[in-house]
Amino acid sequence: MGETDVIDLLLAQHGMIRNLFDEVEQAPAGEARAEAFTRLVRLLAVHETAEEEIVHPYARHAIDGGDGVVDDRLAEEREAKELLSRMDEAGPDAPDFMQNLLMLRAAVEAHARSEERYEFTKLRGQTSDAERRTMAAGVKAAEAMAPTHPHPGTESATKNVLMGTPIAMMDRARDVIRQAMGKKP
Ligand SMILES: [Fe+2]
Ligand SMILES: [Fe+2]
Repeated sequence: MGETDVIDLLLAQHGMIRNLFDEVEQAPAGEARAEAFTRLVRLLAVHETAEEEIVHPYARHAIDGGDGVVDDRLAEEREAKELLSRMDEAGPDAPDFMQNLLMLRAAVEAHARSEERYEFTKLRGQTSDAERRTMAAGVKAAEAMAPTHPHPGTESATKNVLMGTPIAMMDRARDVIRQAMGKKP
């Protein structure tokens, strides 16, 4: 099974998101911080969009009290996106960048814990291996657009790498996910 299970993939991404927050926090101000922040924004964009397109709609009807659980997660994701967009607009050199980063980190990590506790565990119990493998296709296609390590000089050559504002990245990720899942964009 390993990384072909959608829940395993999303849990692994939660780990990568934590590591990227560490990288941004520890990077010296300037280019290094901006570069690490861009990778974090990309990963958050593909991760949250994949959840919104694939697992939240499924969890809504598959788990007990699914509507309430999913509505709570969507509200958390919306708040994080708003803060992320404001941070992206102000840029990584803004005087309040670090303060906002810590706020974003606390919100994103609390959100991830709630998903793991209230949504993913139940979803694993309510789905077959085959269903979770099918759901993994969209997550993998999206993840390919968000390299988590810097690749100096080769980034522009990486196919489909996400660019622009967080919202533009999410729109692009949504198209790719829908295509991978065999849905109309
Ligand atoms: Fe999420
Ligand atoms: Fe998540």
